[in-house]
Amino acid sequence: MPPLPAIIAIDGPVASGKSSVGKRLADRLGYLFFDTGLLYRAITYLALRDRIPLDDPAALELYALRAHVDVQPPTVQDGRDCTVLAEGDEDITWELRSKTVEDSVSVVAAVPGVRRVLTSQMRRIGLRGRVVMVGRDVGTVILPEAGLKFFITASVEARARRRFAEAQAGGRPRTYADILANLRERDRIDSSRQAAPLRPADDALQLDTTDLDLDGVVAALTAALAARADP
Ligand code: DC
Repeated sequence: MPPLPAIIAIDGPVASGKSSVGKRLADRLGYLFFDTGLLYRAITYLALRDRIPLDDPAALELYALRAHVDVQPPTVQDGRDCTVLAEGDEDITWELRSKTVEDSVSVVAAVPGVRRVLTSQMRRIGLRGRVVMVGRDVGTVILPEAGLKFFITASVEARARRRFAEAQAGGRPRTYADILANLRERDRIDSSRQAAPLRPADDALQLDTTDLDLDGVVAALTAALAARADP
C-alpha cells in the first residue's frame, strides 16, 4: 500500500454519517479527528447567547475573530466525541447540539467573514498533518491539498432517521417531521450559499450511505484506502 496521506478530508451533508465514520477512521489510523462543524456551531451558540445580531455580518466576523473556542479530547465519558470549551473553561459541548443552534448555524456559516476566520484556523490545524478533518468544504477550500478526499451522501429521509434515533437515545425529544424539515432547510442553505457551497471536490471519492450502517461505511472507506495500492 502507498504511504497513508497525512491529511484525509471527509465532506458531506448533515447527518450523512461523516463524523461517526471520520472518528472511527481517525482512531484506527492514530490520527487527530477534527469536526469543523463544531466551530461553526460554537460561534453560533456563543453569538446567540451574547445577543450578536445574526443579520449583521460585520459584527459576526468580529465576534468570530475574538472568540476563544477550543476542541479537546473528551473530558467526560457521556457519549461525547470531544469536549468543546469556550473562553478556556466553559464546557459548551452539549449546547452545540440544541435545536436553537441547529436552526441558526447555517445562517452563521453562510457569512463570508465568519468563514474566512474559521477556515484559516482550521487550515492551520490541518496542515500539521495526521488528521481526519470532516465538514462541508474541507476538500474544496480548507485543505484542497488533502491526499485523500471522500464525499459522503445519503437520502434526506435516511439522514433524518439517523438524527431521530440519536435524539431519542440522547433523551433530547424531537419529532421526526421537525428533524426532516430542519435537514431540508440546512441542505438548501448549505448548497446554495455563495461562499464555499457544499459540493464534492473534483478528486473526491463519492459514497452513498443510504443503505449502509456505520460498519458498512467504515468498510467501504477502508476498501477505498486499500484500493489505492491497486490502481
Ligand atoms: O456538520 P454540522 O451539522 O455540525 O455543521 C454545522 C453547520 O456548519 C452546517 O450548517 C454547515 C456548516 N459547516 C460549513 O459550512 N462548513 C464546514 N466545513 C462545516 C460545517
